[in-house]
Amino acid sequence: MRIGVLELVALSALLFASAVHTAVPLDRRSSLLRSWREQAALEPHPVPLLQTDPLYDYTAIKFPSNGSVDSLAAQYAERTGWENVGRLGQLDAYRVFRQRKGGRLVRRHLEGGVRLSQGKRLVKRGLVGGFGNRQASSNDTAWRDITDPLYSTQWHLVNTKEIGHDINVTGVWHQGITGAGVTVALIDDGLDYSSEDLLDNFDFKGSYDFNDKTKLPTPRLVEDYHGTRCAGQIAASRNDVCGVGVAYGARVAGIRMLSKEVSDQDEVTALNYEMDTNWIYSCSWGPSDDGATVQGPDQHIEDAFVNGVEKGRSGLGSIFVFATGNGGAAGDNCNFDGYTNSIYTISIGAIDHLDKHPYYSEQCSAQLAVTYSNGAQRGVVTTDLGLRSCTDKHGGTSAAAPLGAGIFALALSVRPDLTWRDVQHVAVRAALPVDTGDSDWTDVAEGRRYNHKYGFGKMDAWRIVETAKTMKHVGKQTSIACPRDEAHTEIPVLSRQGAPSESASRKIEITAAQVAVAKMRRIEHVTVVVDMSHDYRGNVEIWLESPHGIRSQLATVRQHDSSNQGLADWRFMSVKHWGEDPVGVWTLHVRNAYLPKHRGTLKAWQLTVFGESTDPDTRPTLPPPSSGPGPNTGGEHNPPPPAKPVEVDDQGTNSMQKVYSLMVPLVLVLGSGIVSALAMLVYMRRRERKLADMRWTALDAIGNSTIEEEGFRPRGGGASTGRPEDDEDTEVFEIAQTASGSSGAYKLPANEAVSLTDDEDDRTKGADSTETERLV
Ligand SMILES: *[C@@H]1O[C@H](CO)[C@@H](O)[C@H](O)[C@H]1NC(C)=O
Ligand SMILES: *[C@@H]1O[C@H](CO)[C@@H](O)[C@H](O)[C@H]1NC(C)=O
Ligand SMILES: *[C@@H]1O[C@H](CO)[C@@H](O)[C@H](O)[C@H]1NC(C)=O
Repeated sequence: MRIGVLELVALSALLFASAVHTAVPLDRRSSLLRSWREQAALEPHPVPLLQTDPLYDYTAIKFPSNGSVDSLAAQYAERTGWENVGRLGQLDAYRVFRQRKGGRLVRRHLEGGVRLSQGKRLVKRGLVGGFGNRQASSNDTAWRDITDPLYSTQWHLVNTKEIGHDINVTGVWHQGITGAGVTVALIDDGLDYSSEDLLDNFDFKGSYDFNDKTKLPTPRLVEDYHGTRCAGQIAASRNDVCGVGVAYGARVAGIRMLSKEVSDQDEVTALNYEMDTNWIYSCSWGPSDDGATVQGPDQHIEDAFVNGVEKGRSGLGSIFVFATGNGGAAGDNCNFDGYTNSIYTISIGAIDHLDKHPYYSEQCSAQLAVTYSNGAQRGVVTTDLGLRSCTDKHGGTSAAAPLGAGIFALALSVRPDLTWRDVQHVAVRAALPVDTGDSDWTDVAEGRRYNHKYGFGKMDAWRIVETAKTMKHVGKQTSIACPRDEAHTEIPVLSRQGAPSESASRKIEITAAQVAVAKMRRIEHVTVVVDMSHDYRGNVEIWLESPHGIRSQLATVRQHDSSNQGLADWRFMSVKHWGEDPVGVWTLHVRNAYLPKHRGTLKAWQLTVFGESTDPDTRPTLPPPSSGPGPNTGGEHNPPPPAKPVEVDDQGTNSMQKVYSLMVPLVLVLGSGIVSALAMLVYMRRRERKLADMRWTALDAIGNSTIEEEGFRPRGGGASTGRPEDDEDTEVFEIAQTASGSSGAYKLPANEAVSLTDDEDDRTKGADSTETERLV
């Protein structure tokens, strides 16, 4: 009896020690989470984050930057009786004033002021279309060290079926280039930093929740999985969970903004949030892609982009990557979205695994390049909401933009000194034309080709990184703004549908003298502002023809756009003239192209060409050391180890080690106590099992379980919260897929399936486990 007890004590001591040992990774996770939550509680509000009061109207005023903005603002407040509540986001020239709603109208004071919207809703550009079944090959790891269970299904990274139809990244990883030192912020609906696939690469500092005004970007709504999936595409860790991100050594920050309506103040602040920590902002959202909307950022939001490219990344410029939009099927064109057609953003569209244009991806002359997403029955495999959850249902141009952002992270990790325009040049030069039989491919300047569906072509990670390595800084940005042409030209009316349509044309010349004054070496972006009246806006086609005969489509027919509002100084943009010499006659063509009898007038237009100056860029060539992720200044052959959340990680690990060393002697003392604990455990287990049986019966009766963990609500069918249409479709689609059982079920090798059916996963995911079940 005595010997038995001693043996038990020794055994349990051993068991306990090993339990402590294996529990360390799990505890590391909780200690990281705890540490972030503690820091979040201490974190003051970012920049002047304006808490808005529904009883007030808010107005932003931009003051001339030559004077003292504060004294001008004080005078302004005195004159109007409005209350100055501080700077707008990070924009030094702006002050926000508020006045009680229904107060005296003082319109005359509004010159230069803009009433701030407190409730704008932006649309996520999620999955469009469906998938059939597909078999995953288990043999397709060119980069053989990666053991993530779903890596072999991530065809966008390594495609062994359709050879060459991937981003060609393995040669980049092979050099040890994995995005180390770069943080990509996902401006989205949250980021599940507690996922084991994202935990290690989560950037706490760069994150903020603008919807719930708190530091951690926790997904809270049923449909808040979008940002997590995008983050997984960029920086999912190399581990035993799901697949890997394209830049698995980079870090991701979550800026939660799309889950509720946002005020203009929040949007401005979000776009410049921690702009020295966050180098790249991945934005898979925008105005509605319904084929009828014409909407862009108001001036103050545009100024946030300008502020980002001027001051972000220590003056080298924030990289804003935007999805072109999912309105392709509705005939939408990304030139009617003022976010994607801004010269400060890089617009990335989608291609499918056959290198073809998926029907949803929008085309326009502002699109720089494309990269992979869903289409032709195949989706993108990435991390999902949950501890160890994955999905194979990611898609839309929503998936293309983060993939592009991840590729830029690879480039910036070897060349952190590239400016925002250098990065655009790299993207233009490295792009590879795809689907070359398509009739829209046109020869453009410097031997390149351009297609409104594909931009300059697809992003090839290897080519982009190699181009970045040898990229010489481009000169300063310069521009030539031509005088506004008050055209007042009637657009010829179609007599009947299908009749040959004539266009109205207006010409403007850029002279060599103007180019000399502007010191312009060559063109980058071209913008055209159009003022037009029309009784059926979507009936109009507009294109710009350069002196070299290269034609940019600006407006294309949009059948759904029946607005009779025309265009009020709408700005179109084209990158198709990149590299051209601006000298010569530029022609704007406008015509009615579809319906007869509709009429309109081109009232005025104005052309601006932006380009590279012969003056060198005088901005800093290397960011000064910051408290954010350190820039990787090492050569490409000596990459640093993957970025880790340093402070937090160290603290966590250290404290765990302390705990562990304290525990070893304690084990002996507690040994005898454990014996009784074990007995207790056996008893509890039995009891628990009995309870569990009862519980499952109960759950069966109500048909659904909603188990909550750490404030997350499981996703799954049912809950509708007035979310954007396209995502509602996604939800419906996924439910339908589940119901019909025709989902994209993988046949995974048994050992790979194990990690997906992980006990903990099932337990914590509750209703969400449908996706997992379908995957297995
Ligand atoms: C600032 O510029 C404005 C025009 O933009 C001018 O009217 C004003 O006099 C200038 N103020 C100073 C102090 O230079
Ligand atoms: C998988 O790879 C191995 C060796 O790398 C090869 O022998 C085998 O034929 C491949 N299987 C398939 C299905 O391609
Ligand atoms: C893909 O990358 C490899 C290096 O890994 C390179 O040799 C090859 O040229 C690249 N493909 C293209 C189309 O550039």
